[in-house]
Amino acid sequence: MKDTKKRNVIVGQSGGPTAAINSSLAGVFRTAIDRGYKKVYGMLHGIQGLVDNRYVDLSEHIQTGLDAELLKRTPSAYLGSCRFKLPDIHEDQALYDKIFKKLDELEIDVFIYIGGNDSMDTIKKLSDYALFSGSQIRFVGCPKTIDNDLALTDHTPGYGSAAKYIGTSVKEIIRDGFSLETEKGQVIIIEIMGRDAGWLTGAAALAKSEDCDGPDAIYLPEVDFDMAAFLKKCKDLLKKKASVVIAVSEGIHTADGKYVTEADGGVEYVDAFGHKQLTGTASYLCNVVAREIGCKTRAIEFSTLQRAASHCASRVDILEAFEVGGAALKAADEGDSGKMVVITRLSDDPYQAGTEVKDVHKIANDVRLVPRNWITKDGTYVTSEFITYVRPLIQGDVAPIMVDGIPRHLWVPGFQDLL
Ligand code: F6P
Repeated sequence: MKDTKKRNVIVGQSGGPTAAINSSLAGVFRTAIDRGYKKVYGMLHGIQGLVDNRYVDLSEHIQTGLDAELLKRTPSAYLGSCRFKLPDIHEDQALYDKIFKKLDELEIDVFIYIGGNDSMDTIKKLSDYALFSGSQIRFVGCPKTIDNDLALTDHTPGYGSAAKYIGTSVKEIIRDGFSLETEKGQVIIIEIMGRDAGWLTGAAALAKSEDCDGPDAIYLPEVDFDMAAFLKKCKDLLKKKASVVIAVSEGIHTADGKYVTEADGGVEYVDAFGHKQLTGTASYLCNVVAREIGCKTRAIEFSTLQRAASHCASRVDILEAFEVGGAALKAADEGDSGKMVVITRLSDDPYQAGTEVKDVHKIANDVRLVPRNWITKDGTYVTSEFITYVRPLIQGDVAPIMVDGIPRHLWVPGFQDLL
């Protein structure tokens, strides 16, 4: 029987999408229904959409078990995402009043936000305002980011699937590199997302297996980039092999803190949290290699592909994302607010993990980097500890539901027009 005292839930998605973020959405929805909430609203484009009065009733979208399965396999943020920084409360209290008025109109008891470190800033500020204003609404964060850089959690949903795509694609690129011979050899540079943390770039090492030597070098943003040492490395490698494959993070920077991509002008775009759009590192480095060494080069930017590759999702990741969504709802239902769900690893092999909640004030806006001792001394590869850490997170597959040879996604007529 439904608990008549429970009213409604609202959930939003924020920041860069992942292949698993919609699985968390499905987990929030399922648990809210199971725990007796009447309606589950979805903000369109996160908090920004809510401010603009844009939301949907999720039960019109997730009507059957098949819809839920399709949602788990649908990449990108189903509800639309945003990078919207709430001002500090004292800067614009009217905005907070507007948001809370809207939440009261919708009879919201629970507010769940699925996002990364910047998005947790929203949970932090809204939960603070609830305390300040005496609101009973509970605000809980559900972790998500391919960057895997959230504090206090072992890892973040979305990372495992992106890491699996990266390991797989790097291996395919290495194999491709063997096929054609060029006079002076070739250098292939692969650019991987992750901004200031190298978790994703390090996952390139997953290509290394019995049948593959793996990439020849990996450059993470945790270590200052030295162009002269990089060029020497390329020259030395080309003496030994015809095809050299190097993975670089989009966020590699020189000792003065300047992103390598900025040497080429970079892209001017900066988001609401002050993050510069990082792109063009691989192509810049390829130009330098071609100029200085004179060999063939190829720049490959994984870009959107690494976070949208649902066809290569990790089963562990998709299932955990669903569970973490459920755990966020459960925590709020049981009275938590101003918290984020974290994943705690119990063992690597067999892989076992559970969830708990931690204070979002200790998580918001922070960045968790790859420990320096998980990177080799010369800074050009990750160690076996890194591989032991990431390997369990990429296990298993989630078969896409194929229609006419192409994966099917959750699609409700007219919905895309609202986004
Ligand atoms: O925040 C996740 C992330 O994927 C970062 O790794 C990357 O720098 C950024 O998003 C790219 O965002 P956008 O697609 O908005 O340029």
